[in-house]
Amino acid sequence: MNSDKKKRLLTGIQPSGRPHLGNYFGMMKQVVNLQDEYETFVFIADYHALTTVRDKEKMHENILNMVIDFLAIGLNADKVVLFQQSQVSEHTELCWVFNCITTMPFLMRAHAFKDAQEAKKKDITVGLFDYPVLMAADILLYDAEIVPVGKDQKQHLEMTRDIAEKFNSMFGDTFILPDALIRDDVAVVPGIDGKKMSKSYGNTIPLFAKREEIERLVKKIVTDSDGEMPKNVYAMHKLFRSEEELAPIYESHKGRYGDLKKILIEDIDAFISPLRERRAEIAKDINKVKEILNNGANIARELAGAKMRLARERLGLLL
Ligand code: AMP
Ligand code: TRP
Repeated sequence: MNSDKKKRLLTGIQPSGRPHLGNYFGMMKQVVNLQDEYETFVFIADYHALTTVRDKEKMHENILNMVIDFLAIGLNADKVVLFQQSQVSEHTELCWVFNCITTMPFLMRAHAFKDAQEAKKKDITVGLFDYPVLMAADILLYDAEIVPVGKDQKQHLEMTRDIAEKFNSMFGDTFILPDALIRDDVAVVPGIDGKKMSKSYGNTIPLFAKREEIERLVKKIVTDSDGEMPKNVYAMHKLFRSEEELAPIYESHKGRYGDLKKILIEDIDAFISPLRERRAEIAKDINKVKEILNNGANIARELAGAKMRLARERLGLLL
C-alpha cells in the first residue's frame, strides 16, 4: 500500500501526572495498536496541562515521563511523530483565530466548564474556559481524520467539528472534520471505587505501578456485589482476561472476594512488570527522549506552519 494514502490519526495527552489504567486502555493502547495502519501523531498537551500544573519541576518531569511511558508501551518513535504541543506555536496561534469565531455561550456548554461552575469554583481560568478551542486547534492544524480518545472527550471532538464547520463556512474549506475513535468496551474504565477511573477522583491504578502498590490498591477495590459477583473487581479483571476465561474462575471462587482479588493482583502484575522493565531501560537515556521530541516538533512545525499560512490567507491576513 502506498504510505501516502494512509489516513492521519492524532491524539494528545496532558502531562498532568502518572498515566493510569484508564488512560492506557481508553486511549494509549489504541494508538499503539493503530500506529502502523495510520500516519500517527501523538503530542504531549503541556499547554492544556497548564490549566492545572503550575509547578516548574513537576511540569518538566511530567512531560518527560509521559514520553517515556508512551515509548515503554510500544509507541514506535521511528514511525510516529511524537512532540510537545508548546514547541509548535501554531497551536496557540490558531486557537486565537478560533477564539474570534467561537461564542461564549457555545463554550459555556462544555462539561469541564459546567462542572467547575456547578462546584462553585471561584478560580475558573480563561484557560479552562478556552480549553476546547485549543484542542480544536491541536486537531485541525494537522488535518487529522481519526482521534482516539476515551468517552470523556466526546464532547470536545464534537466542538472541534463545529468550530471547523464554522470556519469553513465563513472563509471557505480549510479544515477537515475529524472523527473521534472511542472503543465501546473501554470507553469508561472504572476505578477502584467503581466510578470512572480519574486522577481527580483518587481512584486510579497507575499504569506503571509497583507490585506493592497494585496489592494495596486492589485490596481497596470496593466490593459492591451483584448477587455473588463483586462487580468492581470483575470490571477491572475484564481488562486483562476475556469473559470466557473469567467465567470459570468467578464460578469456582463464588463469594470469595479475597481470593478473586489475589488472582486480579497477579494478572495486573503480570501485565505491568514487563512494561515497568522496558520503562526503566528507556528512562536511562533522557537525551534520546529529548531528541525524539525535537525531531517530532520539527515535522509537526512544517505541517502546522503550512496550515496556518493557509488559514491566514483565507482570513485576508496575507498581503
Ligand atoms: P487525561 O488523563 O484526561 O489527559 O486523559 C487522556 C486520555 O485517556 C483521554 O483520551 C481520555 O479520554 C482517556 N481516559 C481517561 N480516563 C479514562 C477512563 N477512566 N476510561 C477510559 N478512558 C479514559
Ligand atoms: N483534552 C484531552 C484530555 O484531557 C487532551 C487533548 C488535548 C487532546 N488536545 C487534544 C486529545 C487533541 C486529542 C486531541 O484527555
